[in-house]
Amino acid sequence: MLAEDQIPVKTRHVYNFDELDRQPEGPCSATVTPRRLISGSKDLATSKATSTGAVVTGERFHATLVWKPRGTGSKIHTHPNEQFNYVLQGTLIADIDGQVMLVPKGHVVHIPAGIPHSHVSTADDDVWFFAAKDTRYGITGPALDGKHDGPRYLPGFYQPGFGTPGSNQWEVGADGLPAPQTENRSGKRVRYVYNIHELEQVSQEFCSAKVIHRGDASRKEHTFGGALNGQKVGIELMHIARGEGWERHTQPYEQFVWVLQGMLLAQVDDQLIQVPERSLLHLPEDIVHSAKASPDKDTVLYIVRPAAH
Ligand SMILES: [Fe+2]
Repeated sequence: MLAEDQIPVKTRHVYNFDELDRQPEGPCSATVTPRRLISGSKDLATSKATSTGAVVTGERFHATLVWKPRGTGSKIHTHPNEQFNYVLQGTLIADIDGQVMLVPKGHVVHIPAGIPHSHVSTADDDVWFFAAKDTRYGITGPALDGKHDGPRYLPGFYQPGFGTPGSNQWEVGADGLPAPQTENRSGKRVRYVYNIHELEQVSQEFCSAKVIHRGDASRKEHTFGGALNGQKVGIELMHIARGEGWERHTQPYEQFVWVLQGMLLAQVDDQLIQVPERSLLHLPEDIVHSAKASPDKDTVLYIVRPAAH
């Protein structure tokens, strides 16, 4: 039997964002930035957005669960890395490339690197979304006007004293939606919003990302539910029937696995781990792992991995 000081220290690979208001104890597979304003500002008056969340950063990707209170969001900003947001609750209003688009629950919005954009929650409901970004840059980027003088607000949510009308306040037009304030840089209408659960309905034309349908010949697994490939970041959906899964294997790239539904039972190195709904499994490059759905419930996974895979 091992003496207490000889018991090997287990490395954390599962992250429950509800617990990340402080640094988890023990060694972690990734770097954790505990929950705060994502912008890193100490208060809203010096922030450019209302988003809060903890951030888990690996070699290639940042992953975060973001809360945006209703009627509030980010000023137009930009970052030299790419981002995919999967909406778990509520509806985002996205202002990208001279277009205003709704991003309801179950949809993904893709923000290519370097494109100015803004996201605000509708007036009806707070928004929760799972975000993935590549590590060419940090988790947040600067406001386009250079001023971190408060977030962006829909009418009725604005806090007096913050910023300027056009920049921090967003008026609603005749159709009930705010008019775009970003420029149409692409010169055409590009799709940035995808119903990831019905990608078969999406044709490739004028899409910001490469769309891979679940029926594509190169991806035969019955579990594969479709994918989007950006420039650096790819996201894909996997359906695993109860009790099914993958035997032990390795992959030559990093993955973040977000459990949308059900429970994943994984073995990572020699550790058996449970990954419940609404939590994140981090698989570093080349790590030996197996994973299967729990025996009592079909499981749906949202996987972040490099765009090339
Ligand atoms: Fe952004």
